[in-house]
Amino acid sequence: MITDLVRKNRSYRRFYQEVPITLETLKELVGLTRHCASGGNLQPLKYILSCDSEKNALIFKHLAWAGYLKDWEGPSEGEKPSAYIIVLGDTNITKSFGCDHGIASQTILLGATEKGLGGCMIASIERKELQEALIIPGHLEILLVLALGKPKETVVVENVGSDGDIKYWRDSQAAHHVPKRSLNEIIWK
Ligand SMILES: Cc1cc2nc3c(=O)[nH]c(=O)nc-3n(C[C@H](O)[C@H](O)[C@H](O)COP(=O)(O)O)c2cc1C
Repeated sequence: MITDLVRKNRSYRRFYQEVPITLETLKELVGLTRHCASGGNLQPLKYILSCDSEKNALIFKHLAWAGYLKDWEGPSEGEKPSAYIIVLGDTNITKSFGCDHGIASQTILLGATEKGLGGCMIASIERKELQEALIIPGHLEILLVLALGKPKETVVVENVGSDGDIKYWRDSQAAHHVPKRSLNEIIWK
């Protein structure tokens, strides 16, 4: 079960925008993070949920997509995410969030995958602009944005080739290929 979920949980960047995600679903996904590990059990993360088109549009324009795909500017209208979860760090609790946001984000995406949804963690964010656009108070630091939707793309995971290139790429059918390092390469000893 976990193997299937982890394998299916790819970074998706094109979606059936017309398929909505409810606030209830977003709350359920964030609810999973309450069961996650947290350094010192501080639980310093907060979340902003968005599933309406107006708020989604505000968020979308401050994100950068797929840096390696130089001739693609991100999802076009009709293929944009249906929802977002913005992961914030509460600096009133701690100034250092360790890997809490990575653990929480992966958990949310695994939960989304189980529901037949998918998404992408996004760290390339115009943080100052998004902070202002959503009137996020200064003590909450934007850590990651999770884009969510019903995936509309095929993602192929393959082994890194002999040239060692790890850049993802798209083929002529627009399938998205993601090279992964071999088990032999990643186990040091
Ligand atoms: C911390 C982190 C930040 C990321 N930031 C972005 C981003 O800003 N934009 C984007 O399109 N993808 C982003 N990604 C997605 C990665 O590009 C993706 O994980 C990688 O290409 C491997 O694909 P996979 O997730 O399907 O294994 C990010 C992933 C992580 C873990």
